Amino acid sequence: MIDRTKIDLSKTPKHIAIIMDGNGRWAKKQGEMRLFGHNVGVESVREVLKGAKELGIKYLTLYAFSTENWNRPKEEVEGLMDLLVRTIAGEVQELHDSGVRLQSIGDVEGLPVNCQSELMAAIEHTKENTEITLVLALNYSSKWEIVNAAKKIAADFAAGKIAEQEITSELFDSYLTTAGIPDPELLIRTSGECRISNFLLWQSAYTEFYFTEILWPDFKKEHLYEAVYDYQNRERRFGLVSEQLNSNI
Ligand code: FPP
Repeated sequence: MIDRTKIDLSKTPKHIAIIMDGNGRWAKKQGEMRLFGHNVGVESVREVLKGAKELGIKYLTLYAFSTENWNRPKEEVEGLMDLLVRTIAGEVQELHDSGVRLQSIGDVEGLPVNCQSELMAAIEHTKENTEITLVLALNYSSKWEIVNAAKKIAADFAAGKIAEQEITSELFDSYLTTAGIPDPELLIRTSGECRISNFLLWQSAYTEFYFTEILWPDFKKEHLYEAVYDYQNRERRFGLVSEQLNSNI
């Protein structure tokens, strides 16, 4: 297990994104209902947020509810929404006191009204904080986000607000729900699944992926350190050759 002292604090990623997976399997292993796994998963969220702050990570994005998750059994969807509302409401003061700014990405308008209002209140309450930004992906689907951006660009083009030559990668960024949030350098997925599952497809063009067998409720600070340590020992080339990174070719 990697301890924190092994990590070079001058080279930590600015933004880590996590696909929190394996709550259901973890619960089943304990002979419990799936929702129990999600509840215990909130403890891992607390741990990882603390760990990320200690490493000086500035953005932590968590895939909390995908658009596809609506297709789960009704009681699981309702339980998850209830958990989200309760967690956001119950944690907002502590998040604020520890300098956390809350943001969300995804189709927020498609969430139940009580979830939207709790979320908006927490975002407003914490908006001046600068220690770390916790981004919750809620009702998030990357393909939806990209199509939605394309529609908005088309509308602005048709209204004469933007010209064709102004449509660049940077402009596209600004139409996504992640506008203003830097791309993640590291994306972690727990539970042994090696897929991106419609998460940050555009934003992860140069992201390093880290897959671990650990189920989300078992994921603790030390596992985050391990992922960051692994990331720090990789060479990020951005399409260049190795020699170019170490010289001015
Ligand atoms: C994936 O495990 C997990 C989810 C779909 C939900 C994750 C949500 C939480 C941990 C609550 C987070 C709360 C806040 C406020 C951030 P799974 O159910 O797909 O597990 P399985 O693959 O083993 O079935």
